[in-house]
Amino acid sequence: MAQLIQITDLHLVKSDGPLLLEHDTRAAFLKMRDYLLEHHSDCDRLIVSGDLVHDEGEDVYRELLEQLSPWEGRLRVIPGNHDSRMPMQKVFGDILRDDPESASFIDEVGGWTLIGLDTLIEGAVEGDLAGEQWVWFREAVANATGPIAVFMHHPPVFVGSQWVDQLSLVSLGVFANLVEEFEQLKLVVCGHVHQEYYTQIFHADVFTTPSTCVQFKPNAAEFAVDSSSPGFRTIDLNSDGTFQTQVHRL
Ligand SMILES: [Fe+2]
Repeated sequence: MAQLIQITDLHLVKSDGPLLLEHDTRAAFLKMRDYLLEHHSDCDRLIVSGDLVHDEGEDVYRELLEQLSPWEGRLRVIPGNHDSRMPMQKVFGDILRDDPESASFIDEVGGWTLIGLDTLIEGAVEGDLAGEQWVWFREAVANATGPIAVFMHHPPVFVGSQWVDQLSLVSLGVFANLVEEFEQLKLVVCGHVHQEYYTQIFHADVFTTPSTCVQFKPNAAEFAVDSSSPGFRTIDLNSDGTFQTQVHRL
């Protein structure tokens, strides 16, 4: 068995940076980091699924890398719409694929293949696979011999909130077709929507996860903040292709 921890939508700013919707994103992240250090320092992977920073540059990414240094070698990252690809590639180059057009990763743990997709369209809030990733993604899925878990910032599904569903993955249909074709694609884990959600695409289970800072109200037609607590997700992968996953709130 392998245990993955997912954290998402950190929206970090510089130490003297502004609050986000009245939330101190740095303090919220550090509180969660300390909790994870105490309870999950031995996890097999720590995956940060986008919006690592809130429109910041290289220095805030470097600070984050330092703050997550206890998971060195086990840390994986992908970008969200508030990230910038180039500084991420500069800071996290060791753990990303060697692809100038995407900050993506592929990895193996516990008999599973983990694929991290880059859905950042610079300058847009909605997302899609950047560069030549559709071709690479399809090949990676086709070549995997065991079960596959995909991590991506923008959900390839609607979560029932009109405003946020206009800002999800653009090519929902292309993604769904790919899932339908490959039975080994079992699990898709996302961020972006700042709330917990579950649905399926054919045989694949799709989950979204709360932010480490501010949450959005589920089922809201227009933008609305929710008072629920920050959260993270544990994912226990079994080598037979089954898994258990759960959101934990702080
Ligand atoms: Fe976000």
